Amino acid sequence: MFLCYLMSACFILPSILQISEAEHQSFLVDKTQIITNRPVIGIVTQETSGSRAPFPSFGSQYFSAVYVKFVESAGARAAPIFVNSSMEEVERMFHSLNGVILPGGHVMLNESGYTPVGKKLLELAIKAYDVKGEVFPIWGECLGLELVAMIISGRNLSLGQYDQSFLSLTDTWNISLKLDLPSDYKSTKLLGPAPDHIISYLTKEDVNYNNHHRGITLETFQKDEKLKEFFQIVSTNKDRKGKTFISSMEARKYPIYVLQWHPAKPQFEWSEKQAIKHTQEAILAGQYFADFFVSQARLSSHRFPSRKEEKAALIYNNHPTYTGDIIPMLQCYFW
Ligand SMILES: *[C@@H]1O[C@H](CO)[C@@H](O)[C@H](O)[C@H]1NC(C)=O
Ligand SMILES: *[C@@H]1O[C@H](CO)[C@@H](O)[C@H](O)[C@H]1NC(C)=O
Ligand SMILES: *[C@@H]1O[C@H](CO)[C@@H](O)[C@H](O)[C@H]1NC(C)=O
Ligand SMILES: *[C@@H]1O[C@H](CO)[C@@H](O)[C@H](O)[C@H]1NC(C)=O
Repeated sequence: MFLCYLMSACFILPSILQISEAEHQSFLVDKTQIITNRPVIGIVTQETSGSRAPFPSFGSQYFSAVYVKFVESAGARAAPIFVNSSMEEVERMFHSLNGVILPGGHVMLNESGYTPVGKKLLELAIKAYDVKGEVFPIWGECLGLELVAMIISGRNLSLGQYDQSFLSLTDTWNISLKLDLPSDYKSTKLLGPAPDHIISYLTKEDVNYNNHHRGITLETFQKDEKLKEFFQIVSTNKDRKGKTFISSMEARKYPIYVLQWHPAKPQFEWSEKQAIKHTQEAILAGQYFADFFVSQARLSSHRFPSRKEEKAALIYNNHPTYTGDIIPMLQCYFW
């Protein structure tokens, strides 16, 4: 019996080796480069004022609980970064966190604290990479893409995201689409290492939920030298009228990823007022992005000065509020 067990163990060994070889071609980061397996991701809040009517009664700032679930689903913890933070506070958080999410939303970029806070984080991440080779991943969705792209393009933010010379109107409210990938997508950090089945779900099934009125057209991108130099296009999409816009892009040099769509909504958002797909393919495709982003955060050397400070900053100090009856977001955190 025992010998038999040993022998079968010998036969199993080669396949284990094969798995670890395959790992190196996957999106998983090189094990020898990992600095932390306890990553904490900052999520930037937004003001409740000026947005949906009943919101301010819950608090002055918020974010959707989906972003917390997104990072938790991939083995990270979340901490809020408040839009009313001083720049010193933002810098302190930057040195404590292992990555940042700039969530989607509806605040005006020319009026919200989301803009200076997001801009500061972006500048710090770029500088840390340039000066020390430090990895600090940034993930922007929808409004997050708009902010990062406008800053990189050097746009005057006085019109916010309503600057139509940069963000064109697109017919993309409440629609799930298939991603269109450029011929060189294999050279992107985000989708190059994605398993074939994930690429197939993303491109053959309409799993990519869009809920925006604006986008960067391919034309705008091609004409914008700063944008072209900084970003590589990861995916495009056509709106209902056939206008092509950039649905995902990544910084060529930095670990900065921005998406016009919402990969985590299939897993975590259940409003029947939204055309979100909850198919097996949509769930697996969404999970890929969480796993990818959090694996990048493992390369970050930042940490809180003490466990006590880490505990005080983590999201577990707050409880999400059920908002599913008011807006198409199931749960939000309010402050
Ligand atoms: C931005 O644009 C506004 C309105 O067009 C203008 O008043 C303002 O001076 C501009 N700001 C900068 C920094 O160019
Ligand atoms: C922000 O931009 C919007 C539209 O572009 C404009 O209506 C609003 O007055 C601007 N707010 C400020 C404070 O300039
Ligand atoms: C969003 O699209 C879905 C599916 O087409 C539809 O059932 C729903 O009513 C739409 N929501 C709104 C607010 O139009
Ligand atoms: C920002 O808002 C939060 C939540 O309302 C509050 O706890 C904090 O004291 C405020 N920070 C500053 C610098 O005003």
